[in-house]
Amino acid sequence: MKKIIITIDGYSSCGKSTLAKQLATKLDYVYIDSGAMYRAITLYFIQNRVDWNVTEEVVNALKDVHLEFMYNPVSNASEMFLNGENVEHFIREMVIAEKVSEVAAVKEVREFAVAQQKKMGTRKGIVMDGRDIGTVVFPHAELKIFMTADITVRVERRFKELFEKNKSITIEEVKENLELRDYIDANREISPLRKAEDAIILDNSQLNMEEQLELVMQWVEDAIMAHT
Ligand code: DC
Repeated sequence: MKKIIITIDGYSSCGKSTLAKQLATKLDYVYIDSGAMYRAITLYFIQNRVDWNVTEEVVNALKDVHLEFMYNPVSNASEMFLNGENVEHFIREMVIAEKVSEVAAVKEVREFAVAQQKKMGTRKGIVMDGRDIGTVVFPHAELKIFMTADITVRVERRFKELFEKNKSITIEEVKENLELRDYIDANREISPLRKAEDAIILDNSQLNMEEQLELVMQWVEDAIMAHT
């Protein structure tokens, strides 16, 4: 069967990565979490005290940032490696979530990440999620999905996930962070979060995971047929 590129963009905590992973498994595609790249860059900047408001510091620091995804058969997922070290666990922490949108708004950071993401798409059969994948990274992707869900639903989902790891986290903290990230991501100057004109909207506030997957698999089949 013909392989295609599937892009999934949308607000924070809509379940983009869950859907992307399910699709990749079902279709035997490669899943790429573009947000992990911005998170790893943020981790590097924090660890090395790089001021991301100073262009020269950013440009110099990026010369020392090497990002790589490596597949972990145990978790059945790709994990993010920063300069050879597995940072998958660290990049999901709240300290990173609090700063990542600021870092991801920096022009040089975006150029650095987007160039690598585009290269990953030279072979088809990939699912990539993020904020600008259908608009900037793969404007010619065969299937583009734009995900959204009610803010209360999204806050609850993210809270549950973070609470598992950190019992001191509060629901207010999570809500504040999601709203702030959505605001910065949608209002930044360079490649802001927005729906590509030809993207299909998926509002999953009222859908369970099985219903969602069934619906999207139909879109995948249609897209493959339309491009064969
Ligand atoms: O998907 P995520 O929550 O892991 O993404 C972390 C941040 O990175 C998010 O707040 C916005 C930014 N991001 C981006 O600007 N462009 C992307 N393609 C992916 C993520």
